[in-house]
Amino acid sequence: MEQSAVHAYPQAARDFLAPVFAQYPLEVTSAQGVWLTNVRGERVLDLYGGHAVVGLGYGHPAWTAALARQAAACNFQSNAVAMPVRTRAAERLVRFSQLPFASVFFVNSGAEANENALKVALRLTGRRHIAALEGAFHGRTAAAGAVTWGAQAKWYGFPRTPFNVSFIPRGDTAAMRAKVTRKTAAVIVEPVQGLAGAVDLGAPFLAALRRRCDEVGALLIFDEVQCGMGRTGHPFAANLYGVTPDLLTTAKALGNGFPCAALLMAEKVAAGVTLESLGTTFGGGPMACAAIEAVIEAIESERLLQRVQRVGAYIRESCILGPVTGHQGAGLLVGLRTTRPARQIHSELLESGILTGTASDPRVLRLLPPFILEEEHVDMLRDALRDLPA
Ligand SMILES: Cc1ncc(COP(=O)(O)O)c(C=O)c1O
Repeated sequence: MEQSAVHAYPQAARDFLAPVFAQYPLEVTSAQGVWLTNVRGERVLDLYGGHAVVGLGYGHPAWTAALARQAAACNFQSNAVAMPVRTRAAERLVRFSQLPFASVFFVNSGAEANENALKVALRLTGRRHIAALEGAFHGRTAAAGAVTWGAQAKWYGFPRTPFNVSFIPRGDTAAMRAKVTRKTAAVIVEPVQGLAGAVDLGAPFLAALRRRCDEVGALLIFDEVQCGMGRTGHPFAANLYGVTPDLLTTAKALGNGFPCAALLMAEKVAAGVTLESLGTTFGGGPMACAAIEAVIEAIESERLLQRVQRVGAYIRESCILGPVTGHQGAGLLVGLRTTRPARQIHSELLESGILTGTASDPRVLRLLPPFILEEEHVDMLRDALRDLPA
């Protein structure tokens, strides 16, 4: 009997994934250290780390063992049941931050952390206005998307934003003072804007934001989903710039690939968070918490912050050649400014076995490599860039 087309699936070539991601011409089967192996068995140097997630690199022995141990011991209990691994992860994260945070709320993704940060700020202040920065990316959920620059025109999809939003031009202190008023509940800002192309907002502007928030009684939220957890060579960009926010969100490198995120809160914020005002099923699960502990342990014991600073500086010294004319960003959140569309350079590098990233700025090639990167890997990038047409 002949099969109808409907019954003929699955066809070998059919892909059931929603077609929402433009994919690189690369199919990965395994990875080790800073190297990916593709389906043809070829090695590719990974300077992109899965959108900044893979801080410790691939196959990190202690991280892998911590997950295996936790899986065997107890793979899940919700927040309704206390677990030592969760308590330890929260304490470890606060101590790692070297910032005066009093409380941690664990969630699953960067967008969810920002969603909760905004909710807490709106409830605590009783205000309805949020200020964000031009160029910002904060995630794809209703509140995080509302404070993402350009989202409404491109993909927002919700009929309205859940609060009033103003966008501040980057570095414009006068505009910032006009837009952040006594009606503002919070300012949300990435201290180094990731997707925008590793755009460093700088200590003076961030300090001015802090002062303005204090003047008008608004809260300051640092979105360190991408630039936090050691990526700048400091625990957080807040440490690098010497500006302390009231709330800080982080994700990506926090779990090294195990999905997790955290919202850190200063005492005055934590004091306003009451029973059942926030919630989650998966957030703070024991596997995520074991991953977080292992990540912090590795960053500290392997002195990875120092390595990020050193290798980040080496990229900036050695890779301004060929089609690259300058750099921006901090640590291993690097934006290389290019003479021609970064997408072209990205494709050419991939053909030479080096994976990089692009940014919303079409003339920025973005590097987000694992923190275990060595100078010898940077030399490979330098040599490949040197061979490309300027
Ligand atoms: C700065 C920043 N905030 C928030 C997000 C959203 O995180 P997630 O994709 O985990 O929801 C991202 C993701 O790229 C990000 O870079």
